[in-house]
Formats: sequence, C-alpha cells, structure tokens
Amino acid sequence: MDFLAELFENNRRWAAEAVASDPAFFARLEAIQAPAYLWIGCSDSRVPANQITGLRPGEVFVHRNVGNVVVHTDLNCLSVLQYAVDVLCVRHVMVVGHYGCGGIKAALAGRSLGLIDNWLRHIQDVAERHASILAALADDDAIQRCLSELNVIEQVRNVARTTLVGDARRRGQQLALHGWVYDLADGGLRDLKVSMTGEVPPDTVVAGALADLRARYGIA
Ligand code: CO
Repeated sequence: MDFLAELFENNRRWAAEAVASDPAFFARLEAIQAPAYLWIGCSDSRVPANQITGLRPGEVFVHRNVGNVVVHTDLNCLSVLQYAVDVLCVRHVMVVGHYGCGGIKAALAGRSLGLIDNWLRHIQDVAERHASILAALADDDAIQRCLSELNVIEQVRNVARTTLVGDARRRGQQLALHGWVYDLADGGLRDLKVSMTGEVPPDTVVAGALADLRARYGIA
C-alpha cells in the first residue's frame, strides 16, 4: 500500500472507532476546546505528549520545538503560551525534556549542523551556566542526561519570567509551572521538582531543584 494512503486509511479507522465508542466525541470537541494543560516539549517523534500522559484529543495544548526551549523573543512559543494562559486558561504548563535528546547531544558536541546551531546556542548557554555541575560528572551519558534536566529547569525559569506569566500572577489567575524529563528507555516521566505556583520566587524554586539534581547525581 502507498505510504501516505495508509495514513488516510488509519485516519478513517480511527475516526470510526472514536465515534463507535462515543457517538458525541467529535461534536463535543468541535464545540469547545478547554484543555487544562499546556505541554512545551521536544519535537522528537518518540515523545508524543498525548500518548505519554494518556490524554485524549482536547485535553492538552501542545508546543514543541527542538530541545524544548523557551526563548523570550520566540513569537511562536510566546503566542502559544499567551493563548493557552489568557484565552484557554490552562491550569498547568509543563516543560518536558527527554533523555537521548538530539538537540542536547548536538549542543554538547558543538559540531556545526547549519542554521540550527543558533537555536542550540540557548542550550549551550544552559551548559555554560551550570558548567561546574557538568564538570563533576564522570561520563558522557551522565552529562547528557544531566543537561537534559538542567535545560528543563532553566526553561521553566524562562516561562516564569515571561510578561505573560507575570501578568497572570498579578490577576490572581491559578497557574502552575512544572518541569519534567521523559526517559526513552522505559517510558517513564520524572518530576524535576521545579514546580512554581507564584508563592515562592522562581530563583528560589530553581535553587531547590538544582540541589535535588546535585543530590541525585552525587555532586557535593
Ligand atoms: Co529532543
């Protein structure tokens, strides 16, 4: 069978099954979008937000880019965040990285891959900021895993520092930020203890998450 024709066939089967088990499924989704979560993750094809968390269509708003980076001048990411917070009123924003991330590996290798080098600079900035932690690790695998986590922690801090989240806090809107890392090896999600609800300053939360990370990697 033609490769793309297979996708349409899959789609017809999926839509038919969805209606068979819940006749009002599409009618309900068409009428309203009210997800409680915004997922900011990596574009990696092995890290699909819905499947990993068992969420159905309509339950999670998603933004993905290489390396799950939140850059203060990235209109794409900021627009998704603004729509999710201001219009959809999501309750939780999670930045989700993953072990075995090509973006993290490329940032560490420093090899030139073209235009994307400029994007990966943001991850290299995280590595430089936490050079003392990475220097204390014994092998490349640990360094890659650790930088995946450090990158998530710093991106949560970036979300917290956007004007959008600041404005939501001032309005008294309920909004929690979280940082997770996904393990391709076993499908597990780890909470990096960088959750922010607005009561504690972001830098204090980050300091706590970094202390937890140091303890897990056995760094004094
Ligand atoms: Co990745």
